[in-house]
Amino acid sequence: MARYRTAMNDIYLLPNGGQSSDELLRLVERYKTTRLTALQLDPAAFGSTYTREIQFTYETWLSRIQNPLSKTFLSIDSTNTNQTDEIPLAQSEWVGTLTVLGPKVTSEGTTLWNTFTRENSTHTPDLAAVRNSNAIYMMAGVFVHPGYRRQGRAQRLVDAAVKRVREEAKFAGASRITIILQVNTENQAAVRLYETAGFLAVSNEKTDWRGMTWEEQLTF
Ligand SMILES: CC(C)(COP(=O)(O)OP(=O)(O)OC[C@H]1O[C@@H](n2cnc3c(N)ncnc32)[C@H](O)[C@@H]1OP(=O)(O)O)[C@@H](O)C(=O)NCCC(=O)NCCS
Repeated sequence: MARYRTAMNDIYLLPNGGQSSDELLRLVERYKTTRLTALQLDPAAFGSTYTREIQFTYETWLSRIQNPLSKTFLSIDSTNTNQTDEIPLAQSEWVGTLTVLGPKVTSEGTTLWNTFTRENSTHTPDLAAVRNSNAIYMMAGVFVHPGYRRQGRAQRLVDAAVKRVREEAKFAGASRITIILQVNTENQAAVRLYETAGFLAVSNEKTDWRGMTWEEQLTF
């Protein structure tokens, strides 16, 4: 289990393979509960709904955890545990989440904003295709439980995700990295969060959702 060492030591990367079936069962249950709670508490913040996802089968939740194109970062409440304790993730308190998909490259007929669709976002990433290209990632599902907000948890989740995908894109020999996300224009907390993390607003066809991007040239 990868722990992302931050000042608060609270960020973990959810493994998408290698667990025992019992552990997997518990992880799926924890993942499902956290996601459904987010959709219930903040319905306007996401591109999906509680009504849609409550109908997901165990296999659908499992495929989300095991999706080779996705990385899910978790913020854990570790106030009651010793910093050196290794508590199994499924038994920890998940108080924040963030998922990042990718990398992909744009092909003919695609733009940044339709690079990722529900249909094309579950395959094994083609790292070779990213070489000398713009590695595109999409950030989604950013959520911190209301009782844990304004403690910098979302900021640390975003920072850990950016750091991780930047390393991956560099390793794959990408010439550039672009992380995209969409945010409801009325969601000022989220807009501020992303601006603070270095995302810039770009124009987008949808009026109630704003596209934002984080970009860096990796090689010259
Ligand atoms: C948006 C959200 C993830 C922020 O989580 P958080 O852990 O409270 O955020 P942080 O404490 O890391 O805040 C980081 C920065 O974001 C901005 N921010 C966060 N909450 C804010 C708020 N309520 N009002 C204004 N700015 C806010 C600030 O710039 C803050 O930096 P600062 O505290 O130094 O001023 C959280 O409010 C949430 O889960 N909202 C519901 C779901 C959602 O909107 N997700 C985003 C979908 S695009």
